[in-house]
Amino acid sequence: MDQYKKPVLTDPIERVAPYDSFALDVLAGLSEPHKSIPSQYLYDDIGSRLFVEITRLPEYYLTACERDVLAANAPCIGSYVANAPFNLVEFGPGDGHKTSLLIDHFRARRFDFCYVPIDISPSAIATLCPTLRRDFPGLEITPLVSEYFTGIRSLSRRSRRRNLVLFLGSNIGNFSPDQARRFLRNLWLSLNHGDILLIGFDLMKDIDVLRRAYNDDQGVTAAFNLNLLKRITRELDGNFALSRFRHFGTYNPASGAMESYLVSLTHQHVHVGAIRRTFPFRAWESIHTEHSRKYLESDIAALASDTAFVVCEHLYDSKRWFVDSVWEVQKTDRKSVV
Ligand code: AVJ
Repeated sequence: MDQYKKPVLTDPIERVAPYDSFALDVLAGLSEPHKSIPSQYLYDDIGSRLFVEITRLPEYYLTACERDVLAANAPCIGSYVANAPFNLVEFGPGDGHKTSLLIDHFRARRFDFCYVPIDISPSAIATLCPTLRRDFPGLEITPLVSEYFTGIRSLSRRSRRRNLVLFLGSNIGNFSPDQARRFLRNLWLSLNHGDILLIGFDLMKDIDVLRRAYNDDQGVTAAFNLNLLKRITRELDGNFALSRFRHFGTYNPASGAMESYLVSLTHQHVHVGAIRRTFPFRAWESIHTEHSRKYLESDIAALASDTAFVVCEHLYDSKRWFVDSVWEVQKTDRKSVV
């Protein structure tokens, strides 16, 4: 019967399945006058592995600073949840190195808690959980492979325990100011009265320090960024020649963010089979791929108050380059109930 025949594809968009947001976002992003691709697509399995390598680079101070914060402040963080059983929820746990510092402390104090890592990448969860089970025998783990909100909503429905949510690494910095507010507002709505958010922010600092962190000597950050083109080549039948693009990371003082680009070294045409499009590149034309916002304490306070969180305290590393901010959800105040 007709309906079982493979459809004949005429219009380019017809080959894009409605759920294939990667193809649609590449189509939209490379069609703009200033080309860009959303940074979430940097994190496929290879990209996630390269990012873990970045966190171990000497130039990428963020991870080391945040590890300092957590190591020095585990008792303080624990004091927010010590009195009752809780879920330790983590958005995008990575290799779990930083979280282990907290888990270690909580176990030593015999806290009653369940660790709930939430990640969209099944392989990230699949590598993390065996490591934690080995390092912490008997640790209760409920991993969720899902988007952050789907995960936290299903958790709030299933469990009445308090949540201590970790959103570390200045991952919030990847969002535009508007997206960040929307994300945090949604998070507040998904959480319960008394829940705690521990959220990491990379602070504004000397621009040379920032630039080095996103342009490392070993070229790992370049490989991480260029992997996006490899991914398009592999998954969307593209024909990017990687040698004709270079990574460029720069600080934009107007937006207060490090910005990553892939710059075309020549005039060239790139074909992406899955969307049946050829994209022209002028020599030195760029694709914007990532935005890593840096913060002042006043930015953090504004973000919290715009989204109804109550700031409890700021926890700093010894250089004061990075802050993990402790926020609380209060829903008894009638004015803030939505
Ligand atoms: C994972 C988003 C926090 O923006 O610093 C590191 C990603 N990109 N080097 C960051 C990243 C290039 C990282 N975040």
